[in-house]
Amino acid sequence: MTERYVMSIDQGTTSTRCILFDHRGHLVSVAQREHKQHFPKPGWVEHDAVEIWRNLERIAPEALAQAGATPAQVAAVGIANQRETTVLWDRRTGTPIGRAIVWQDTRTDSLIEEMARADDAGIVAERSGLPLATYFSAPRIRWLLDHDPGLRERAERGEVLFGTMESWLIWNLTGGLDGGVHVTDVTNASRTLLMDLNSLAWDDDLLAFFGIPRAMMPEIRSSTETYGVARRVIPGVHIGAALGDQQAALFGQTCFAPGEAKCTYGTGGFLLMNTGNEPVRSSNGLLTTVGYKIAGEPAVYALEGSIAITGALVQWFRDGLGLISSAPEIETLARTVEDNGGCYIVPAFSGLFAPHWRSEARGVIVGLTSYITKGHLARAVLEATGWQTREVVDAMNRDSGLSLKELNVDGGMTADHLLMQLVADVLNVPVVRPMVIETVSLGAAYAAGLAVGYWADLEGLRRNWHRAARWVPSMDPQRRATEYDNWQRAVERTFDWIKP
Ligand code: G3P
Repeated sequence: MTERYVMSIDQGTTSTRCILFDHRGHLVSVAQREHKQHFPKPGWVEHDAVEIWRNLERIAPEALAQAGATPAQVAAVGIANQRETTVLWDRRTGTPIGRAIVWQDTRTDSLIEEMARADDAGIVAERSGLPLATYFSAPRIRWLLDHDPGLRERAERGEVLFGTMESWLIWNLTGGLDGGVHVTDVTNASRTLLMDLNSLAWDDDLLAFFGIPRAMMPEIRSSTETYGVARRVIPGVHIGAALGDQQAALFGQTCFAPGEAKCTYGTGGFLLMNTGNEPVRSSNGLLTTVGYKIAGEPAVYALEGSIAITGALVQWFRDGLGLISSAPEIETLARTVEDNGGCYIVPAFSGLFAPHWRSEARGVIVGLTSYITKGHLARAVLEATGWQTREVVDAMNRDSGLSLKELNVDGGMTADHLLMQLVADVLNVPVVRPMVIETVSLGAAYAAGLAVGYWADLEGLRRNWHRAARWVPSMDPQRRATEYDNWQRAVERTFDWIKP
């Protein structure tokens, strides 16, 4: 085989990363670049799509150079991306229409409230499997069309295109100015509120409900198939996969059988369980979503518990409060104290996602006394991730009628041992981490490699999975119950802060 590597691009909320993997699923080289977070108003979060593209233009050659490789040695590239983040661009010039609106942005909360009162609002959850919430793409597209005079008419004429980040990158990689390929994959499409979960096609009634012209929508394709060949940055390389980053992690953790689940801790935390070829509806605040679709095969669905803020709280502790200078310091600081001192932080910065779905919720810190030090706050920051995970695991257990026996974890935050111990303690189940914690990237690489025959089948990928660490619960049951009760009372405080 002359093609020695598969490339993955993980376009995440805070950075874009390019990794080369070899045939054993080992990481060969990594290049990464952060992009600026724009917070123009409270609750607003934006990215510059051009900056993200420029970052990719730099990191892809860097990753190749580190491995001493050329694009000709890359069998395919797979893209995993932050989901729901919405970018519109001009079809003719390739220029974005303003900044991309990020999945954490809550500017559409009053629009959502208004739309929820419509007689036909029920079709949204029924067809898309998702609650009507600010988290997803459709209300953002609508907001952009409403706030730029003339944009809707241009969109109706097909002059303005919509995409999530994988669409934007594929468009640019495959041609850019003179017309790239305008596609998305089923996993990303399943996060827009506009796709029918059963037919896997854009739904006319949902498009009409949100007032979004079909002409601006990308073509929906499988998660693994060749969408085109790159003409820029990595010329000649087949673009063989695209998945939302959390679905990519499910794939990278090789959760290919129904009942297998993983939780990825990045900016947010996302627990996905494979539910097989039928979409399972949640009665407990989880999302029904597409896990992946291999070309020519039926889609695999997943139930998802999405937590908006996990790593982003550590980031805020570092950048917003300046109490630490690097993210890993949170563990050292939290270890300076025995417990949280009675203090709880509920990071409802973007409302609360699963299982509450309260767009209007705002964050709280409760239990402050003069006894509290920054060590206690650091502990409360980490505990917030633990308790939020507990809430989604409880919901997952109720929906599936099973009780989770062990949790597979991955993502940057799993390097924090104290946090992983906390997660095991609050869930009262062991927590297991694989050798490769970059499972988002690995999943995108696996999917692209499958598309071009670099890897033969799913079984072969499973054999690459190896356990690196395991944390066993050790919390006193009485303490667990009391702390969870305190947490839930703190969560209640987030709901009534903003006056209607
Ligand atoms: O749904 C949002 C999610 O895809 C973001 O993932 O890893 O960038 O926080 P991450």
